[in-house]
Amino acid sequence: MIPTIIWTPEMSVNVTLIDEQHKKLIEIINSLNSAIDGNAAGPILDEVFNELTEYTRKHFSTEEELLQRVNYPLTAAHKEEHDGFIYQLISFRNDFENGSEVVSTKIVDFLYGWLVEHIQGSDKAYSVLLNENGIH
Ligand SMILES: [Fe+2]
Ligand SMILES: [Fe+2]
Repeated sequence: MIPTIIWTPEMSVNVTLIDEQHKKLIEIINSLNSAIDGNAAGPILDEVFNELTEYTRKHFSTEEELLQRVNYPLTAAHKEEHDGFIYQLISFRNDFENGSEVVSTKIVDFLYGWLVEHIQGSDKAYSVLLNENGIH
């Protein structure tokens, strides 16, 4: 099993709402990891996948709205990264539905890797501008 991950203060983007959403996203991916590892039944996996997709969309639109509000210069590029993630999520899910153990491990591995890298790179890059605009 891929080890679960926990949110650490080093992942903070200095905006409470966003940090809370990141924690929740990590929590959902952890649930997916356990569900896959425990060979959960199809409907349960479907539910977790749905939750993940819905919450991811919600989180991305929260971020994109904030970035637009402060005229963050990299908003378009940031949105492209988000769109790429959603695309991956959907195609992994399709693979999984036709799929194998290898695919399922790959999904969780990808989700953790992408999320942590994105938070620590692209997300942290907007912190200063948001804070300067009074968003904490
Ligand atoms: Fe984020
Ligand atoms: Fe982001």
